[in-house]
Amino acid sequence: MAEETFTPKNIIVTGGCGFIGSNFVHYVVDHHPDVHVTVLDALTYPGNIENIAGLPEDRVEFVHGNICDAELLDKIVPGHDAIVHYAAESHNDNSIAHPEPFLKTNVEGTFRLLEAVRKYGIRYHHVSTDEVYGDLALDDPAKFTERTPYHPSSPYSSTKAASDMLVRAWTRTYGLRTTISNCSNNYGPYQHVEKFIPRQITNILEGERPKLYGRGENVRDWIHTEAHSSGVWTILTKGRIGETYLIGADGEKNNITVLRMILKMMGQDENAFDWVKDRPGHDRRYAIDSTKLRTELGWTPTHTDFESGLKAHGIPEGSGADHQVVHGQPRLVGAGQGRHRSQVQAAGPVRHIRERSHPKGRGPMMIPIYGKGFTRVWISRRI
Ligand SMILES: NC(=O)c1ccc[n+]([C@@H]2O[C@H](COP(=O)([O-])OP(=O)(O)OC[C@H]3O[C@@H](n4cnc5c(N)ncnc54)[C@H](O)[C@@H]3O)[C@@H](O)[C@H]2O)c1
Repeated sequence: MAEETFTPKNIIVTGGCGFIGSNFVHYVVDHHPDVHVTVLDALTYPGNIENIAGLPEDRVEFVHGNICDAELLDKIVPGHDAIVHYAAESHNDNSIAHPEPFLKTNVEGTFRLLEAVRKYGIRYHHVSTDEVYGDLALDDPAKFTERTPYHPSSPYSSTKAASDMLVRAWTRTYGLRTTISNCSNNYGPYQHVEKFIPRQITNILEGERPKLYGRGENVRDWIHTEAHSSGVWTILTKGRIGETYLIGADGEKNNITVLRMILKMMGQDENAFDWVKDRPGHDRRYAIDSTKLRTELGWTPTHTDFESGLKAHGIPEGSGADHQVVHGQPRLVGAGQGRHRSQVQAAGPVRHIRERSHPKGRGPMMIPIYGKGFTRVWISRRI
């Protein structure tokens, strides 16, 4: 098993207010007490500052800004020893309707970050997706490996593929210290309701029948966000420079199985959903072979049982619907992987965020106002 060869102390996490990025920030705060995190996030529609609210001020700083902003990067990158890059336009359906923002954020944004990494000589980890490999036939026993050729299907996956290529070229040409990870479909706390699992849960909660694309046969290889976070941390600290590692937890399930599981867990009839026409280019099956990460770096995934993983992040059980969907900002809030997260849950749903000056002149404060009248101070930096 590889030893840690890099011990970061001060990292930038881009997209740290999104679904997977915020889970990574919680993971670092919970598991690596010596590390300070600067979250750089533009707070586009899926970004939610509440996803990281309640974390200790001396460990996490929020910078509201865009990864395409080179001047901003010049101001914040110096003093950090690594960037872990999660920020992206990430929704396939949106990429089909409006591809341009995907080019801007996923390709130009990665280019700007690589240029900043080149200028300041820091370590870079690039978070990518298994969707760059296209899809597999439903009856094909094969899985994706690090040697599978790229074959993206959608504007989203093609821009992620392009960003991976930039990372490889900048590593070879300029000698940057980079790694790439390509992960399978994540589930867990803080996911935007536009995505498959939270969408089905919130539809059921709101009394609407869930909808299933095509015949529901498309297979996704599910992994809990906490396992993804530990994989990224392992690669950041032990990974070989210039290498790509696939992250997956052997969680293949087709969409109809997942939907029926959710309906059953929520006390509904397993067939209480409607079929809808499939989306164009819908990938059939993804499957990850993560042998390299497991054998070379000694990583093993947590939450390998999908059903208990779902329960652990707040899926309502029975008709009581004791759910954890944040009011007004419908996020799934997990049952807790650390004390910070349970504080957020205890606070109840977020009503709105108020801004005022810090009493010691340390910049504006964001104050989430919770349903139960509970407030928690959040310091942000505007540059
Ligand atoms: N969701 C999955 O299952 C999955 C699987 C594998 C890899 N990934 C990758 O993980 C990363 C995060 O995915 P996610 O599902 O958490 O996405 P998300 O859409 O929930 O979050 C994206 C975050 O990036 C921020 N952002 C967007 N554009 C920005 C910009 N120009 N500058 C700064 N911040 C910006 C948003 O505000 C948001 O907080 C992506 O790179 C995605 O490709 C996702």
